[in-house]
Amino acid sequence: MLTQLFYIGLLLVLIHVAVPLLYYIIILAYVRRPWPINPINVSNEELPTVSIIIPTYNEENMIVGKLDNILEQNYPLSKIQLIISDSSNDNTQAKIEEWLSRHRGVDLNYIKSPRMGKGHALNKALELASGNIIVTTDADSLWAKDSLINAVKWLINEQVGLVSCIKAPRGGGLTEDAYRRLYNNLRIGESKVHSSVVFHGELLAVKGNLLKSIGGFPTDIGADDSYTGVKVASMGLRAIIPGDVTCIEYVPSNGYGRWRVRRAQHLLQSFMKSIKLPKPSNYKPIYYTEAYIHLVNPWLLTIGAILLLASGGLLAYALVALGIMLLVWPPFRAWVIQQFILMYAMVRNLWTKELMWEKISK
Ligand code: GDD
Ligand code: MN
Repeated sequence: MLTQLFYIGLLLVLIHVAVPLLYYIIILAYVRRPWPINPINVSNEELPTVSIIIPTYNEENMIVGKLDNILEQNYPLSKIQLIISDSSNDNTQAKIEEWLSRHRGVDLNYIKSPRMGKGHALNKALELASGNIIVTTDADSLWAKDSLINAVKWLINEQVGLVSCIKAPRGGGLTEDAYRRLYNNLRIGESKVHSSVVFHGELLAVKGNLLKSIGGFPTDIGADDSYTGVKVASMGLRAIIPGDVTCIEYVPSNGYGRWRVRRAQHLLQSFMKSIKLPKPSNYKPIYYTEAYIHLVNPWLLTIGAILLLASGGLLAYALVALGIMLLVWPPFRAWVIQQFILMYAMVRNLWTKELMWEKISK
Protein backbone atom coordinates (compact mmCIF):
# COMPACT_ATOMS: atom_id res chain seq x y z
CA MET A 1 0.00 0.00 0.00
CA LEU A 2 2.68 2.48 1.06
CA THR A 3 4.93 1.60 -1.85
CA GLN A 4 1.95 1.99 -4.16
CA LEU A 5 1.51 5.54 -2.85
CA PHE A 6 5.19 6.12 -3.47
CA TYR A 7 5.02 5.03 -7.09
CA ILE A 8 1.83 6.97 -7.85
CA GLY A 9 3.27 10.06 -6.17
CA LEU A 10 6.52 9.73 -8.09
CA LEU A 11 4.64 9.18 -11.35
CA LEU A 12 2.56 12.33 -10.85
CA VAL A 13 5.65 14.41 -10.11
CA LEU A 14 7.42 12.97 -13.15
CA ILE A 15 4.46 13.74 -15.42
CA HIS A 16 4.29 17.22 -13.92
CA VAL A 17 7.92 17.83 -14.89
CA ALA A 18 8.05 15.88 -18.15
CA VAL A 19 5.06 17.29 -20.03
CA PRO A 20 6.03 20.98 -19.88
CA LEU A 21 9.72 20.15 -20.28
CA LEU A 22 9.07 18.16 -23.44
CA TYR A 23 6.67 20.77 -24.75
CA TYR A 24 9.16 23.58 -24.09
CA ILE A 25 11.98 21.69 -25.78
CA ILE A 26 9.83 21.17 -28.86
CA ILE A 27 8.57 24.74 -28.99
CA LEU A 28 11.98 26.24 -28.29
CA ALA A 29 13.33 24.29 -31.26
CA TYR A 30 10.90 26.31 -33.39
CA VAL A 31 12.32 29.58 -32.06
CA ARG A 32 15.52 28.88 -33.98
CA ARG A 33 13.66 28.03 -37.19
CA PRO A 34 12.80 30.68 -39.79
CA TRP A 35 9.30 32.13 -39.86
CA PRO A 36 6.89 30.37 -42.27
CA ILE A 37 5.20 33.75 -42.81
CA ASN A 38 6.64 37.23 -43.12
CA PRO A 39 5.83 40.84 -42.35
CA ILE A 40 5.12 42.92 -45.45
CA ASN A 41 6.81 46.23 -46.19
CA VAL A 42 4.82 49.05 -47.74
CA SER A 43 5.55 52.73 -48.33
CA ASN A 44 4.51 55.29 -45.70
CA GLU A 45 1.58 56.37 -47.88
CA GLU A 46 0.28 52.82 -48.08
CA LEU A 47 0.40 52.21 -44.34
CA PRO A 48 -3.07 51.49 -42.92
CA THR A 49 -4.80 53.84 -40.49
CA VAL A 50 -4.58 52.79 -36.86
CA SER A 51 -6.92 53.43 -33.95
CA ILE A 52 -5.08 53.20 -30.65
CA ILE A 53 -7.35 52.58 -27.68
CA ILE A 54 -6.12 53.25 -24.15
CA PRO A 55 -8.44 52.16 -21.33
CA THR A 56 -7.75 54.14 -18.17
CA TYR A 57 -8.71 53.68 -14.59
CA ASN A 58 -6.82 56.09 -12.33
CA GLU A 59 -3.73 56.49 -14.46
CA GLU A 60 -2.79 60.05 -13.49
CA ASN A 61 0.83 58.97 -12.95
CA MET A 62 1.21 57.05 -16.19
CA ILE A 63 -0.96 58.66 -18.86
CA VAL A 64 1.34 61.54 -19.88
CA GLY A 65 4.33 59.24 -20.32
CA LYS A 66 2.13 56.85 -22.25
CA LEU A 67 0.91 59.54 -24.68
CA ASP A 68 4.46 60.86 -25.16
CA ASN A 69 5.60 57.32 -25.92
CA ILE A 70 2.96 56.94 -28.63
CA LEU A 71 4.10 60.16 -30.28
CA GLU A 72 7.65 58.79 -30.36
CA GLN A 73 6.48 55.86 -32.48
CA ASN A 74 8.03 55.45 -35.86
CA TYR A 75 4.60 55.75 -37.53
CA PRO A 76 3.00 58.67 -39.42
CA LEU A 77 0.96 60.63 -36.90
CA SER A 78 -1.60 61.50 -39.57
CA LYS A 79 -2.55 57.81 -39.70
CA ILE A 80 -3.15 57.52 -35.96
CA GLN A 81 -6.45 58.01 -34.16
CA LEU A 82 -6.15 57.96 -30.36
CA ILE A 83 -9.08 56.99 -28.18
CA ILE A 84 -8.93 57.13 -24.40
CA SER A 85 -11.74 55.28 -22.67
CA ASP A 86 -11.64 56.60 -19.15
CA SER A 87 -13.41 55.59 -15.95
CA SER A 88 -11.12 57.32 -13.48
CA ASN A 89 -11.89 59.20 -10.33
CA ASP A 90 -8.44 60.77 -10.01
CA ASN A 91 -6.76 63.47 -12.13
CA THR A 92 -6.37 61.38 -15.28
CA GLN A 93 -8.76 63.56 -17.30
CA ALA A 94 -7.03 66.80 -16.26
CA LYS A 95 -3.66 65.32 -17.22
CA ILE A 96 -4.99 64.35 -20.63
CA GLU A 97 -6.44 67.81 -21.25
CA GLU A 98 -3.18 69.43 -20.23
CA TRP A 99 -1.23 67.12 -22.57
CA LEU A 100 -3.64 67.78 -25.43
CA SER A 101 -3.25 71.55 -25.01
CA ARG A 102 0.45 71.01 -25.78
CA HIS A 103 -0.26 68.67 -28.73
CA ARG A 104 -3.09 70.28 -30.67
CA GLY A 105 -2.42 68.38 -33.88
CA VAL A 106 -3.14 64.96 -32.41
CA ASP A 107 -6.43 63.23 -33.23
CA LEU A 108 -7.38 62.35 -29.67
CA ASN A 109 -10.87 61.27 -28.66
CA TYR A 110 -11.67 61.19 -24.98
CA ILE A 111 -14.68 59.29 -23.69
CA LYS A 112 -15.75 58.90 -20.11
CA SER A 113 -18.07 56.23 -18.76
CA PRO A 114 -18.83 54.68 -15.38
CA ARG A 115 -16.42 51.94 -14.39
CA MET A 116 -17.55 48.53 -15.67
CA GLY A 117 -14.25 46.78 -16.31
CA LYS A 118 -11.60 46.98 -19.01
CA GLY A 119 -13.53 44.97 -21.63
CA HIS A 120 -16.48 47.35 -21.48
CA ALA A 121 -14.19 50.36 -21.77
CA LEU A 122 -12.54 48.87 -24.87
CA ASN A 123 -15.89 48.18 -26.53
CA LYS A 124 -17.08 51.72 -25.87
CA ALA A 125 -13.98 53.00 -27.64
CA LEU A 126 -14.50 50.55 -30.48
CA GLU A 127 -17.72 52.37 -31.41
CA LEU A 128 -15.59 55.41 -32.30
CA ALA A 129 -12.68 53.58 -33.87
CA SER A 130 -12.33 54.19 -37.58
CA GLY A 131 -8.85 52.75 -38.22
CA ASN A 132 -8.14 49.76 -40.48
CA ILE A 133 -6.25 48.38 -37.53
CA ILE A 134 -7.27 48.56 -33.89
CA VAL A 135 -4.59 48.56 -31.25
CA THR A 136 -5.34 48.40 -27.55
CA THR A 137 -2.71 49.30 -25.00
CA ASP A 138 -2.55 49.65 -21.23
CA ALA A 139 -1.69 53.07 -19.84
CA ASP A 140 1.10 51.62 -17.70
CA SER A 141 3.05 50.11 -20.59
CA LEU A 142 5.54 51.57 -23.04
CA TRP A 143 6.43 50.49 -26.56
CA ALA A 144 9.77 50.31 -28.32
CA LYS A 145 9.95 52.89 -31.14
CA ASP A 146 9.31 50.36 -33.90
CA SER A 147 6.73 48.23 -32.12
CA LEU A 148 3.69 49.74 -33.81
CA ILE A 149 5.06 49.76 -37.33
CA ASN A 150 6.40 46.22 -36.95
CA ALA A 151 3.05 44.98 -35.67
CA VAL A 152 1.29 46.64 -38.61
CA LYS A 153 3.69 45.07 -41.13
CA TRP A 154 2.86 41.63 -39.80
CA LEU A 155 -0.85 42.43 -40.01
CA ILE A 156 -0.57 43.43 -43.67
CA ASN A 157 0.12 39.75 -44.30
CA GLU A 158 -3.31 38.30 -45.03
CA GLN A 159 -2.68 35.17 -42.97
CA VAL A 160 -2.26 37.23 -39.80
CA GLY A 161 -5.29 38.48 -37.85
CA LEU A 162 -3.76 39.63 -34.59
CA VAL A 163 -0.34 40.64 -33.27
CA SER A 164 0.77 41.14 -29.69
CA CYS A 165 4.09 42.00 -28.02
CA ILE A 166 6.81 40.26 -26.08
CA LYS A 167 7.35 41.81 -22.67
CA ALA A 168 10.42 43.30 -21.06
CA PRO A 169 9.75 43.63 -17.34
CA ARG A 170 10.89 46.64 -15.30
CA GLY A 171 11.33 46.08 -11.62
CA GLY A 172 10.49 42.43 -11.06
CA GLY A 173 14.00 41.26 -10.14
CA LEU A 174 15.75 38.04 -11.05
CA THR A 175 12.84 35.66 -10.73
CA GLU A 176 10.60 37.73 -12.97
CA ASP A 177 13.45 38.06 -15.50
CA ALA A 178 14.13 34.32 -15.64
CA TYR A 179 10.46 33.58 -16.06
CA ARG A 180 9.98 36.22 -18.77
CA ARG A 181 12.87 35.06 -20.91
CA LEU A 182 11.49 31.55 -21.17
CA TYR A 183 7.97 32.88 -21.50
CA ASN A 184 8.81 35.20 -24.42
CA ASN A 185 10.59 32.44 -26.31
CA LEU A 186 7.58 30.19 -25.91
CA ARG A 187 5.28 32.82 -27.35
CA ILE A 188 7.57 33.29 -30.37
CA GLY A 189 7.94 29.53 -30.92
CA GLU A 190 4.20 28.95 -30.71
CA SER A 191 3.63 31.79 -33.15
CA LYS A 192 5.98 30.14 -35.63
CA VAL A 193 3.98 26.92 -35.44
CA HIS A 194 0.64 28.71 -35.72
CA SER A 195 -0.44 31.05 -32.92
CA SER A 196 0.19 31.86 -29.29
CA VAL A 197 -2.30 31.15 -26.51
CA VAL A 198 -1.50 34.13 -24.29
CA PHE A 199 -1.67 37.72 -25.51
CA HIS A 200 -0.90 41.03 -23.87
CA GLY A 201 -2.99 44.12 -23.27
CA GLU A 202 0.24 46.15 -23.37
CA LEU A 203 -0.04 45.92 -27.17
CA LEU A 204 -2.77 44.04 -28.96
CA ALA A 205 -3.17 44.87 -32.65
CA VAL A 206 -6.11 43.40 -34.58
CA LYS A 207 -7.55 43.88 -38.04
CA GLY A 208 -10.48 46.27 -37.51
CA ASN A 209 -13.07 44.41 -39.60
CA LEU A 210 -12.17 41.13 -37.98
CA LEU A 211 -12.51 42.51 -34.46
CA LYS A 212 -15.87 44.08 -35.26
CA SER A 213 -17.09 40.86 -36.91
CA ILE A 214 -16.51 38.94 -33.68
CA GLY A 215 -18.40 41.56 -31.68
CA GLY A 216 -15.43 43.30 -30.06
CA PHE A 217 -13.93 42.21 -26.75
CA PRO A 218 -15.48 39.83 -24.23
CA THR A 219 -16.78 41.49 -21.07
CA ASP A 220 -17.56 38.39 -19.02
CA ILE A 221 -13.90 37.45 -18.42
CA GLY A 222 -10.79 39.36 -17.40
CA ALA A 223 -8.38 38.36 -20.16
CA ASP A 224 -9.98 40.21 -23.07
CA ASP A 225 -6.56 40.16 -24.74
CA SER A 226 -5.78 36.43 -24.54
CA TYR A 227 -9.30 35.35 -25.37
CA THR A 228 -9.45 37.58 -28.45
CA GLY A 229 -6.16 36.13 -29.69
CA VAL A 230 -7.34 32.55 -29.28
CA LYS A 231 -10.65 33.46 -30.92
CA VAL A 232 -8.80 34.83 -33.96
CA ALA A 233 -6.60 31.71 -34.15
CA SER A 234 -9.71 29.54 -33.87
CA MET A 235 -10.98 31.24 -37.02
CA GLY A 236 -7.92 29.97 -38.90
CA LEU A 237 -6.01 33.25 -38.94
CA ARG A 238 -2.72 33.55 -37.14
CA ALA A 239 -2.53 35.37 -33.83
CA ILE A 240 1.16 35.91 -33.26
CA ILE A 241 3.77 37.37 -30.93
CA PRO A 242 6.86 38.12 -33.03
CA GLY A 243 10.19 39.08 -31.48
CA ASP A 244 10.28 42.52 -33.09
CA VAL A 245 7.21 43.84 -31.29
CA THR A 246 8.19 44.63 -27.72
CA CYS A 247 6.78 46.51 -24.78
CA ILE A 248 8.01 47.46 -21.38
CA GLU A 249 5.78 46.71 -18.50
CA TYR A 250 6.14 48.15 -15.03
CA VAL A 251 6.00 45.44 -12.42
CA PRO A 252 4.47 46.63 -9.16
CA SER A 253 6.79 46.73 -6.17
CA ASN A 254 4.07 46.08 -3.64
CA GLY A 255 0.98 44.03 -4.24
CA TYR A 256 3.06 41.83 -6.58
CA GLY A 257 1.52 38.57 -5.33
CA ARG A 258 -2.06 39.78 -5.70
CA TRP A 259 -1.23 41.10 -9.18
CA ARG A 260 0.14 37.72 -10.29
CA VAL A 261 -2.88 35.87 -8.88
CA ARG A 262 -5.37 38.15 -10.58
CA ARG A 263 -3.62 37.83 -13.94
CA ALA A 264 -3.56 34.06 -13.55
CA GLN A 265 -7.28 34.12 -12.74
CA HIS A 266 -7.94 36.03 -15.95
CA LEU A 267 -5.81 33.71 -18.05
CA LEU A 268 -7.59 30.66 -16.67
CA GLN A 269 -10.92 32.33 -17.49
CA SER A 270 -9.71 32.73 -21.07
CA PHE A 271 -8.84 29.02 -21.28
CA MET A 272 -12.22 28.01 -19.84
CA LYS A 273 -14.07 30.19 -22.31
CA SER A 274 -12.01 29.23 -25.38
CA ILE A 275 -11.61 25.51 -24.75
CA LYS A 276 -14.70 24.63 -26.79
CA LEU A 277 -13.88 26.79 -29.81
CA PRO A 278 -13.01 24.79 -32.95
CA LYS A 279 -9.30 25.05 -33.74
CA PRO A 280 -7.08 24.59 -36.82
CA SER A 281 -5.22 21.28 -36.69
CA ASN A 282 -1.70 22.68 -36.20
CA TYR A 283 -2.94 24.98 -33.43
CA LYS A 284 -4.58 22.16 -31.47
CA PRO A 285 -1.37 20.65 -30.00
CA ILE A 286 -0.27 24.10 -28.79
CA TYR A 287 -3.58 25.14 -27.37
CA TYR A 288 -4.46 21.90 -25.60
CA THR A 289 -0.98 21.34 -24.18
CA GLU A 290 -0.99 24.87 -22.78
CA ALA A 291 -4.50 24.38 -21.43
CA TYR A 292 -3.31 21.20 -19.72
CA ILE A 293 -0.19 22.94 -18.36
CA HIS A 294 -2.29 25.74 -16.88
CA LEU A 295 -5.39 23.90 -15.70
CA VAL A 296 -4.30 20.37 -14.75
CA ASN A 297 -0.55 20.09 -14.43
CA PRO A 298 -0.10 22.33 -11.34
CA TRP A 299 -2.20 19.91 -9.27
CA LEU A 300 -0.03 16.91 -10.12
CA LEU A 301 2.98 18.41 -8.36
CA THR A 302 1.10 19.07 -5.14
CA ILE A 303 -0.80 15.79 -5.09
CA GLY A 304 2.37 13.91 -6.04
CA ALA A 305 4.36 15.52 -3.23
CA ILE A 306 1.59 14.76 -0.72
CA LEU A 307 1.48 11.09 -1.79
CA LEU A 308 5.26 10.83 -1.55
CA LEU A 309 5.20 12.19 1.99
CA ALA A 310 2.26 9.95 2.88
CA SER A 311 4.14 6.87 1.66
CA GLY A 312 6.57 7.50 4.49
CA GLY A 313 9.68 5.95 2.91
CA LEU A 314 13.15 7.37 3.37
CA LEU A 315 13.58 7.71 -0.39
CA ALA A 316 10.30 9.67 -0.57
CA TYR A 317 11.45 12.09 2.12
CA ALA A 318 14.79 12.47 0.36
CA LEU A 319 13.08 13.32 -2.94
CA VAL A 320 10.84 15.94 -1.34
CA ALA A 321 13.85 17.39 0.51
CA LEU A 322 15.76 17.55 -2.77
CA GLY A 323 12.85 19.43 -4.33
CA ILE A 324 12.87 21.91 -1.46
CA MET A 325 16.63 22.41 -1.75
CA LEU A 326 16.31 23.04 -5.49
CA LEU A 327 14.20 26.11 -4.64
CA VAL A 328 17.42 28.10 -4.30
CA TRP A 329 17.73 27.88 -8.08
CA PRO A 330 15.71 30.90 -9.41
CA PRO A 331 14.15 29.29 -12.53
CA PHE A 332 12.93 26.33 -10.49
CA ARG A 333 11.67 28.60 -7.73
CA ALA A 334 9.83 30.73 -10.31
CA TRP A 335 8.25 27.58 -11.71
CA VAL A 336 7.04 26.30 -8.35
CA ILE A 337 5.66 29.70 -7.34
CA GLN A 338 3.77 29.84 -10.64
CA GLN A 339 2.20 26.42 -9.91
CA PHE A 340 0.87 27.65 -6.60
CA ILE A 341 -0.39 30.88 -8.15
CA LEU A 342 -2.27 28.87 -10.80
CA MET A 343 -3.91 26.60 -8.23
CA TYR A 344 -4.87 29.47 -5.98
CA ALA A 345 -6.18 31.44 -8.98
CA MET A 346 -8.33 28.51 -10.06
CA VAL A 347 -9.89 28.18 -6.63
CA ARG A 348 -10.35 31.93 -6.33
CA ASN A 349 -12.20 32.01 -9.67
CA LEU A 350 -14.94 30.03 -7.95
CA TRP A 351 -16.04 33.10 -6.00
CA THR A 352 -14.65 36.14 -7.81
CA LYS A 353 -13.67 36.84 -11.40
CA GLU A 354 -11.91 40.10 -10.45
CA LEU A 355 -13.34 41.93 -13.45
CA MET A 356 -12.81 45.26 -11.70
CA TRP A 357 -9.55 45.07 -9.89
CA GLU A 358 -7.90 47.31 -7.41
CA LYS A 359 -5.39 49.70 -8.94
CA ILE A 360 -1.89 48.64 -7.96
CA SER A 361 0.57 51.52 -8.18
CA LYS A 362 3.82 50.97 -10.07
N1 GDD B 1 -11.79 52.40 -18.43
C1 GDD B 1 -11.35 51.42 -17.64
N2 GDD B 1 -12.23 50.79 -16.78
N3 GDD B 1 -10.03 51.07 -17.69
C2 GDD B 1 -9.59 50.09 -16.87
C3 GDD B 1 -10.44 49.41 -15.97
C4 GDD B 1 -11.83 49.80 -15.93
O1 GDD B 1 -12.63 49.27 -15.18
N4 GDD B 1 -9.71 48.49 -15.29
C5 GDD B 1 -8.44 48.61 -15.76
N5 GDD B 1 -8.37 49.57 -16.69
C6 GDD B 1 -7.18 49.96 -17.48
C7 GDD B 1 -5.99 50.40 -16.66
O2 GDD B 1 -6.01 51.78 -16.36
C8 GDD B 1 -4.84 50.03 -17.57
O3 GDD B 1 -4.59 51.00 -18.55
C9 GDD B 1 -5.33 48.76 -18.26
O4 GDD B 1 -6.76 48.80 -18.17
C10 GDD B 1 -4.79 47.47 -17.62
O5 GDD B 1 -5.05 47.51 -16.23
P1 GDD B 1 -3.90 47.28 -15.12
O6 GDD B 1 -4.45 47.70 -13.82
O7 GDD B 1 -2.63 47.88 -15.59
O8 GDD B 1 -3.86 45.72 -15.07
P2 GDD B 1 -2.70 44.67 -15.37
O9 GDD B 1 -1.48 45.30 -15.87
O10 GDD B 1 -2.52 43.77 -14.25
O11 GDD B 1 -3.49 43.87 -16.50
C11 GDD B 1 -2.90 42.98 -17.38
O12 GDD B 1 -3.61 41.79 -17.36
C12 GDD B 1 -4.97 41.91 -17.76
C13 GDD B 1 -5.58 40.54 -17.72
O13 GDD B 1 -5.43 40.00 -16.47
C14 GDD B 1 -2.95 43.63 -18.73
O14 GDD B 1 -2.25 42.85 -19.66
C15 GDD B 1 -4.37 43.82 -19.19
O15 GDD B 1 -4.39 44.36 -20.50
C16 GDD B 1 -5.08 42.51 -19.14
O16 GDD B 1 -6.44 42.70 -19.50
MN1 MN C 1 -0.76 47.00 -16.10
